[in-house]
Amino acid sequence: MNCLSPSILAADFSCLGEQIRLLDEAGAQYVHIDVMDGMFVPSISFGMPVIRSIRACSDRIFDVHLMVAEPERYIEAFAEAGADLLTVHAEACCHLDRTVGAIKELGLLAGVALNPATPPERVRYLLEKVDMVMLMSVNPGFGGQQFIPYTLRKIRELKELIDREGLKTDIEVDGGVNLDNVEDILAAGANVIVAGNAIFQGDILENTQRFLHILNRQA
Ligand code: DX5
Ligand code: ZN
Repeated sequence: MNCLSPSILAADFSCLGEQIRLLDEAGAQYVHIDVMDGMFVPSISFGMPVIRSIRACSDRIFDVHLMVAEPERYIEAFAEAGADLLTVHAEACCHLDRTVGAIKELGLLAGVALNPATPPERVRYLLEKVDMVMLMSVNPGFGGQQFIPYTLRKIRELKELIDREGLKTDIEVDGGVNLDNVEDILAAGANVIVAGNAIFQGDILENTQRFLHILNRQA
């Protein structure tokens, strides 16, 4: 099934709850929550208190993207704050297998994110353990960047690896996704789509519905 994960990094934080309810009303299945620590990535966004307060606004899957150095330090805290799916960067973890195991032990869904220049091979032996692999299609740290075209090739290569093992691991694509390139991204093999600016610039309800229309058509 194809799912949409709108990134609230592009939301208007003065009315975040209301905007999250609009996503819900339009039918987006996930809420993408970008946590940045100013170390792994240059920028700082928000953390547990924000997640805890928006948990009351939505029952959708909270897809928490940790752009954080040594994220194993915070897994329990994010589980308690209300994360359903916790994604850590392969580049930020010294003991990735152990970190994924710790996420699963808490009963959460586990994801591994790869920066644009990291090959899909990096997660090959973890595919059985993770629920999702996220391919970054921009360098993490900021919303509103341009989609890096070679990501399409990476999606196809990762999909081949997953199919070869007979697995159903989700492939999420994050960064620079819009209504013009989303069909190519789905066709390459992705099934969880993150979109920030393409959802929150303009009419949120209408943008979300447009994305979902394409996602459902290509399901
Ligand atoms: C980038 C974040 C993305 C970002 C996506 O570091 O991980 O989730 O918010 O925003 P857009 O869709 O605007 O590129
Ligand atoms: Zn993200």
